[in-house]
Amino acid sequence: MSLHNKPIPESPSSSKILPEICRRRFMTGTLGVGAGMILAPLFAGAQNAFAADAAKKVSDFVTKQPWVTLNDGRKMPQLGLGVWRLSSEEAKVSMIEALAYGYRSVDTAAIYRNEEAVGEAFRASGQKREDVFITTKVWNDEQGFDASQKALDKSLKRLGLDYVDLLLIHWPVPQQNLYSETWRAFIQMREKKLARSIGVSNFNEEQLKQIISETKVTPVLNQVQLHPYMQQRALRAVHDALGIYTQAWSPLAQGKVINDPVIGKIAEKHRKTAAQVVIRWHLQSRIIVIPRSSKPARVRENFDVFDFTLDAEDMKAIEGLDGKA
Ligand SMILES: NC(=O)c1ccc[n+]([C@@H]2O[C@H](COP(=O)([O-])OP(=O)(O)OC[C@H]3O[C@@H](n4cnc5c(N)ncnc54)[C@H](OP(=O)(O)O)[C@@H]3O)[C@@H](O)[C@H]2O)c1
Repeated sequence: MSLHNKPIPESPSSSKILPEICRRRFMTGTLGVGAGMILAPLFAGAQNAFAADAAKKVSDFVTKQPWVTLNDGRKMPQLGLGVWRLSSEEAKVSMIEALAYGYRSVDTAAIYRNEEAVGEAFRASGQKREDVFITTKVWNDEQGFDASQKALDKSLKRLGLDYVDLLLIHWPVPQQNLYSETWRAFIQMREKKLARSIGVSNFNEEQLKQIISETKVTPVLNQVQLHPYMQQRALRAVHDALGIYTQAWSPLAQGKVINDPVIGKIAEKHRKTAAQVVIRWHLQSRIIVIPRSSKPARVRENFDVFDFTLDAEDMKAIEGLDGKA
């Protein structure tokens, strides 16, 4: 994790606030939240559910917060809040704002050292447990069959929760040669309902295929670095073939894509901000996305992406940015 934060100017629309009525509708869950759960067709087989999601038209993602159907049949919001590098206080402020504004998913990890804050923010929000999707990750030095189970126990204690919605192996660390047995422990933790869904992060094709062939259990998603400058097309094709969702970490390239002129032009066209265009591009590309901000106004801005659609020309222009440094 060698990426660096650069100071980023406050975005032009960061002071924009939804009208109070709309905000209340978000808070009471009557505006789009969980709509995908109602709209998504129910299929018996996990692969069928994934295929059904793949066949969804972009229009399904336009007006409402989309939820995706994972290959284990469970549902997850496609847009969530990331909290890496946020202090406990910042994580609490951002998450309380996020949950009030309509977010229903947060991505933390043991190594972020803010799981307590995530748990406190969840309780302060007044949301029901079943309405908020909480992800955490097992760090490299806690891999292994027993160690990873102890790691989840510790995470749950810090979060103050009985279960997490999604548990990820943070990095494969192949030199340790422990990710396979860690994956077997994850399957057990899922059976014990301590982790409702299980997945991985930063795995390559070979590592994915290895754990699947050894256990016959496919991760629900692989969380990888992905943004307009690093679009991970080959890996996304592998995920699609295996029935695994792609989740993007650093979707804003840590702020680097905000000043891109191509994105700026598209943002101007839609009267949205560059960050909103980039998040929208992820959503329309069927990628699960978890932008992070320490600033409540940007937390809101990053969720205000359900009232416009990128057209084919916009999508193509952003696709053309792949590989740009
Ligand atoms: N699995 C992994 O190995 C891994 C690795 C890295 C990250 N992640 C996860 O992915 C999440 C997101 O990635 P990330 O945190 O690296 O970076 P990111 O979401 O790509 O970018 C965050 C940066 O963008 C700025 N920003 C956010 N919204 C903005 C807006 N609307 N306008 C302008 N600037 C904006 C933030 O600054 P301000 O705070 O000042 O707004 C921050 O500096 C993490 O928080 C974490 O949950 C996972």
